[in-house]
Amino acid sequence: MRQEDPVATHAAHAEPAPEAGTRAMRRAVELAARGLGHTSPNPVVGCVITDAAGTVVGEGWHQRAGGPHAEVHALRAAGAAARGGTAYVTLEPCNHTGRTGPCAQALADAGIARVVYAVPDPNPQASGGAATLRAAGVDTGAGLLRAEAEAGNTAWLTSVRLGRPHVTWKYAATLDGRSAAADGSSRWISSAESRADVHRLRAEADAVLVGGGTLRADDPHLAVRGIDGATQPLRVALDTRAGLPPTARILDDAAPTLLVVAEDADTRHLPGVALLRLPPHGGRIPLDRLLTELYARGVRSLLLEGGPTLAGAFLEAGAVDRVVGYLAPALLGAGPAALGDAGITNISHALRLDLTEAVRVGPDLRITARPATAPKEH
Ligand SMILES: NC(=O)c1ccc[n+]([C@@H]2O[C@H](COP(=O)([O-])OP(=O)(O)OC[C@H]3O[C@@H](n4cnc5c(N)ncnc54)[C@H](OP(=O)(O)O)[C@@H]3O)[C@@H](O)[C@H]2O)c1
Repeated sequence: MRQEDPVATHAAHAEPAPEAGTRAMRRAVELAARGLGHTSPNPVVGCVITDAAGTVVGEGWHQRAGGPHAEVHALRAAGAAARGGTAYVTLEPCNHTGRTGPCAQALADAGIARVVYAVPDPNPQASGGAATLRAAGVDTGAGLLRAEAEAGNTAWLTSVRLGRPHVTWKYAATLDGRSAAADGSSRWISSAESRADVHRLRAEADAVLVGGGTLRADDPHLAVRGIDGATQPLRVALDTRAGLPPTARILDDAAPTLLVVAEDADTRHLPGVALLRLPPHGGRIPLDRLLTELYARGVRSLLLEGGPTLAGAFLEAGAVDRVVGYLAPALLGAGPAALGDAGITNISHALRLDLTEAVRVGPDLRITARPATAPKEH
């Protein structure tokens, strides 16, 4: 993660007290998070507008792809009070006319005197907003709470940088790292609280993915339950030979589904199922092609739900950006490990992670970590 930059001011302007600006940006970061899971292929963005006296007069966030951007919501809420005020935005205002008009121009037209944004827009199609603002005579500042704003938008920023979805590998295991018992039974390793928490992770993701082993062993459903207003993720399953029966739970209409099969797989028993046909490599679906295809379909964040073989393949490919492990206070002593072969044979090649969070979820421990070295460019 990049370090927070000092706020760079590009034109002289009467500034509100710095702590008021920080408060406004922190609120904008909070607002942005409300969009998680709803905005892809767009980023999450929050905006707070203060009037010339520093009083908050408008708030907004990007609520869904194709809908108004955060700045437009905030400008609407502020009305005439925006004139002469300051807009705090978590991402550089866009300069791009897509399904909505350019926000940089909208801010200038509303008479905003100063725009402070946290993160520059890395998307070449949308960047240049700050230059447009300055050309229109609007004072700009960049970098306020940049680290917090980047953390809130990490999936989108990673996907734009790497040209593939941001991947979170999630697993549940006993304290001795087993994902199932020796007889194969695995329901339920983690608690009801942890399973509810996984629904939140699904709701924040654009797509969830399982391998053929999990598909056959568990007949998983993978839709989000118990979260009001959730946008259902795309359910993706790798099933090279298309052995899935038409009665599989993943094929119901609770959420969209994409079945990934070999290009020559016989799928006549699966009419109406959305298919992605890829040429297998060594009998397996090539993960780089899979990720490219998902990215092209607008998937910016992918939740990898296993099992151990597929997780190992993703790690070996350098395609895991975040790990979320639910550790249950239970021991099995035998049974499959949470992670299969990831191509690591010597301790010196262990994939080292940086721990970003450890919290209790019901009786379990949820550990969040990310690779200590940057994931591979795609
Ligand atoms: N505790 C947990 O968090 C957790 C989570 C999920 C699953 N599980 C458990 O894990 C077990 C299943 O795991 P598993 O390791 O046997 O299977 P898996 O990882 O779910 O799936 C592996 C299968 O995916 C398909 N595949 C296609 N392309 C692949 C690629 N490039 N790399 C890897 N796999 C690819 C292959 O099957 P095809 O050739 O048929 O396509 C492969 O055999 C079940 O018992 C399940 O309950 C536990």
